[in-house]
Amino acid sequence: MNSINWDSLGFDAYRTRTIIFSKFSGGEWSPFEATENFSFTFDPFSQVLHYAISCFEGLKAFRQKDGRIAIFRPDQNAARLKRTADYLGMPGPSQELFIKMCEACVRNNLKYLPPYGHRASLYLRPILMGVHPQMQLVPYPEAIFAVMCAPVGSYYGEHLRSFAAVIPGNYDRAAPKGSGSYKIGGNYAATFKPYQLAHKQGYTELLYLNSCTREFVDEFGSSNFFGIKGNKYITPLSDSILPSITNKTLQEVAADLGMEVEKRPVPVDELAGFDEAAACGTAVVITPMSHIDIKPVLEEPGIERSYRYRPDGEVGPVCTQLYKQITGIQFGELEDRHYWCYYI
Ligand code: PLP
Ligand code: COI
Repeated sequence: MNSINWDSLGFDAYRTRTIIFSKFSGGEWSPFEATENFSFTFDPFSQVLHYAISCFEGLKAFRQKDGRIAIFRPDQNAARLKRTADYLGMPGPSQELFIKMCEACVRNNLKYLPPYGHRASLYLRPILMGVHPQMQLVPYPEAIFAVMCAPVGSYYGEHLRSFAAVIPGNYDRAAPKGSGSYKIGGNYAATFKPYQLAHKQGYTELLYLNSCTREFVDEFGSSNFFGIKGNKYITPLSDSILPSITNKTLQEVAADLGMEVEKRPVPVDELAGFDEAAACGTAVVITPMSHIDIKPVLEEPGIERSYRYRPDGEVGPVCTQLYKQITGIQFGELEDRHYWCYYI
């Protein structure tokens, strides 16, 4: 292995040492194994290839200040994967199996766990795939569950910097009563083209509205939304957004800091009243927005409205404070009073 420059890590696929996997067939999960062979073989008729029968998770392992290794809230990811698997009619790993496999993935790839002091971590990507060869649109209990990992730094290339987002008038992410609150691969497929168009126009993120009435803020393509107004942390309540573990954590962090937390529908017009607005998630941590524009047609010129928060790159005081708190707990610099760190 060439030595890794821990300070310049972005967020990308990586060839580490091993992937941990288990197969579900005949009603049970096989004992998990580690493989150095970075490829899986499945039948070309597999459900995952044709019908996107796949779901995943994202969580991070940290080398902390005192040298210990902590995975952040893996029980929450285990529960969310189980919920998503149920939605797809797939067998999901138990919480115990999920956590054991994440732990094995970290242990098997220790060389790739960034040392303390670089604001970098080991991102774990568990994935569950339906591999039964079948054309009928019905679930079948045959699956591969794999946990892979990658050393990561900042998702957008720079820690704690603000970026621009766009609300696309002509793209939706999730239907009412649809799959938006589940972490299925298909939800992300719908965002690829709009992301490409947004990036071409200088926007880093896409902010989606509720697709039924387009009156309320739902979430970013990669993460949840929160706004800061005075002493309030405000985040959307919606059936079609992913229940973010980072957001849930930040709500507790904000309350611990004496802030008021409001989880409720957020009308689009309210974007005008926030002091700060940001994305939050495992990958993006907290990424504040410099401004958010509404574009009626993403690929055409024309901005309907622009909500400005900070000059490009600058970050507000509350986002800075929340960022320091959550990363402080993750890196073992601050007390983990809620026992979020799972030590291995
Ligand atoms: N929303 C979407 C669409 C996501 O992909 C993610 C990332 O996992 C999140 C929100 C944030 O969730 P979490 O904080 O659990 O990573
Ligand atoms: C995560 O934050 O873990 C995700 O899965 C988001 C993805 C867009 C990288």
